[in-house]
Amino acid sequence: MAAKGGFSSDMTDSIRSSPILPSFSLANKVCAVTGAARGLGLEFCRAFLQSGCTSLALLDLRAADLDLAVTELLAFHSAIHEGKLDELKVIGIECNVTSEENVIAAMDKVVGELGRVDVVVASAGIVENYSALDYPAERAKLLLDINVNGVFYTAREAARRMIPQKSGSIILIGSMSANIVNVPQLQTPYNASKAAVKHMAASLAVEWAQHNIRVNCLSPGYMLTKLTRTILEGDAELKATWEKLTPMGRMGEPEDLAATIVFMASDASKFMTGSEIRVDGGYCAI
Ligand SMILES: NC(=O)c1ccc[n+]([C@@H]2O[C@H](COP(=O)([O-])OP(=O)(O)OC[C@H]3O[C@@H](n4cnc5c(N)ncnc54)[C@H](O)[C@@H]3O)[C@@H](O)[C@H]2O)c1
Repeated sequence: MAAKGGFSSDMTDSIRSSPILPSFSLANKVCAVTGAARGLGLEFCRAFLQSGCTSLALLDLRAADLDLAVTELLAFHSAIHEGKLDELKVIGIECNVTSEENVIAAMDKVVGELGRVDVVVASAGIVENYSALDYPAERAKLLLDINVNGVFYTAREAARRMIPQKSGSIILIGSMSANIVNVPQLQTPYNASKAAVKHMAASLAVEWAQHNIRVNCLSPGYMLTKLTRTILEGDAELKATWEKLTPMGRMGEPEDLAATIVFMASDASKFMTGSEIRVDGGYCAI
């Protein structure tokens, strides 16, 4: 029956019972995140659990950190859902994204253990600071292997499993460094890798739109994680410089990305593909 304003009564009931748009829900979506043992990847997992996801796979190089992360997420879920763990599946999978074989095996495990895969976030990445003239070639190769090839293998193996499902959302974690050159620290290969990730998202989006698979890029500004804490160790001046260069005057907390990653993962963004969303406190706006 149509209610006032053209909404069906079912629709108005569901709007009344939910404080947010139902399309943001990740209930019934299987999510997998690379680089999930810590930092932004772990924060994305937390946001997914908060948004109704009950089937989650964490992929990372560091086995010990993975175990800790899975334990932490189970405790987090139990705390926010009053102890209900019966339907919850959170698995850790050791995976080096630079190895195509590893990524294939990991995605097979995700689908084998969780039944399907609806959302994949490629968050594994590293940064290093050397001037271009001093950058050891082997280090530059490794960085590009993780940040570019690793993201490509992850997206491709995700899509191969999503194509038969005729749906999926893939989110590549870029950086504001895809758009600007960071100062004062020097990091040319990193900046180039993130520009590659941004354009990879657009290119894959065009290739896979026909399969209803969306590919988007989330580009954070300076966020406080292990990655940036390592750079900032013993350099209070550098943190102050970064804050001064950011119009909002602070570094981001990883949870500042929570709502954005849920939007990008969920059906709330179902007509968005090939896009980049910057969450950088205004850094790129000046
Ligand atoms: N922290 C920031 O300020 C910031 C800003 C912009 C973009 N980013 C991007 O966000 C992503 C996550 O960064 P973070 O700050 O959480 O870093 P982090 O160092 O805290 O975490 C990165 C995770 O990736 C894993 N990893 C590294 N190499 C891997 C490999 N070969 N295979 C599998 N896993 C691997 C690490 O073990 C770690 O758990 C990166 O792609 C980074 O470039 C971070």
